Amino acid sequence: MNVTWVMGPPTGEEHGRYLALDLGGTNLRVCEVSFEAFSDFEVLINKNPLPEEVKHGTAEELWDYVAECLQRFLHEHHTGPSEKKVPLAIAFSYPVTQSSLRSGILQRWTKGLDVKGVEGHDIVPQLEAAIGRKVGAHLEVFCTREEPSALISLQGLPIDIVAVVNDTVGTLITAARQDPEVKIGSIFGTGCNAAYFEEASRIPKIHGRSNIPDDALVAINAEYGAFDDERKVLPCTRFDDMIDQSSARPGQQTYEKMVSGLYLGEILRMVFLDLHESGALFQGADPTLLRQQNVIDASFLSAIDLDVPGSVQEMGRLFKQKLGIEPSLPELRICRQLVEMVGIRAARLYACGIAAICKKNNWSTCRVAVDGAVFENYTNFRKRTMAALGEIFDWPPETETRITLQHCKEGSEIGSALIAALASEGPRRHLLQT
Ligand code: GLC
Repeated sequence: MNVTWVMGPPTGEEHGRYLALDLGGTNLRVCEVSFEAFSDFEVLINKNPLPEEVKHGTAEELWDYVAECLQRFLHEHHTGPSEKKVPLAIAFSYPVTQSSLRSGILQRWTKGLDVKGVEGHDIVPQLEAAIGRKVGAHLEVFCTREEPSALISLQGLPIDIVAVVNDTVGTLITAARQDPEVKIGSIFGTGCNAAYFEEASRIPKIHGRSNIPDDALVAINAEYGAFDDERKVLPCTRFDDMIDQSSARPGQQTYEKMVSGLYLGEILRMVFLDLHESGALFQGADPTLLRQQNVIDASFLSAIDLDVPGSVQEMGRLFKQKLGIEPSLPELRICRQLVEMVGIRAARLYACGIAAICKKNNWSTCRVAVDGAVFENYTNFRKRTMAALGEIFDWPPETETRITLQHCKEGSEIGSALIAALASEGPRRHLLQT
């Protein structure tokens, strides 16, 4: 449960141009968002895949890559040197300890990232140093070749880092600006997590600080992907144990490893392989591809787990293409059931996390804004989660659903830019700089 120093929902007054860098588990997105007060926004996004060597390299390599992508973005989208630095928020979807909005000490990497030299350090000075290196390098180029392209670099990257924001908090803020009934921001993608607003008086970590009124609302990043790392509550299977053991960080993110997109394909692969090795499935097939780690990803499940008649043929094509296996029709039916089991379990466990936040706050109605590719593309996931919520709260059949989930596309980036706006202006500015 991390205190984020985002103090209350936006008012709608936010306006101006802000930058956001979104460092997730799969991509690095650089965006510029322009807001008009009480109106819509415009967004420009550049998506850069996070190379494997960067995911497992050193802090310098990571931040140099980030600075490079940022510079490229500024170069493409800003024609002339600007006098004023643009406020930038880092959407950093990993657990950080924040002593202020503008700092974030990485507690531990999650979602398979394992970059040396970042854990235990504040990411803001690390990125600033990389930006400094970039400016220095381009100054040299400029002095020797007088390239016009070096102009923007000569200025220094014209940015001012003002906030470190978790993706769940960004999503919460984006959705709450459009709909005040939204109380939870959540991500269901590579990872799984949620954020909500808590009254300062109910947060022991900060309660009693003289500059924070008791009734101030503070966004809490639940970081509940790490729920039950002691393995006392969740009904883990031997496949969950195998996923954990083969992961970059065994013993961590127990709940997330049962639920989120990064792991669903691997769980399914292990079940298939186990059944094949015991002679129950894909008899006579060549399992070479099936033995490859991560050969199945979450898109494999969402492509199969559809309510469309005739999808068995489509499924056969997918097995051939991805796994080099041509299952019989009865085998395909079994596989379809296995996919459903993995998908239903994920949706039911995901519903538990949302329900826990609602129960803690005694909310009987709530809107949840969800961002993340798996939520967006796995069509059956939403309705299964809602059904599971109905079971948890024991709503009588036919009751109108009281907790609803809505997709909030690019919530993380837009919300981070909004938080950059809140940090740069507005009446709550002083609170944000605690
Ligand atoms: C992981 C991260 C968390 C993030 C989530 C969704 O659980 O630890 O910070 O919000 O993934 O991206």
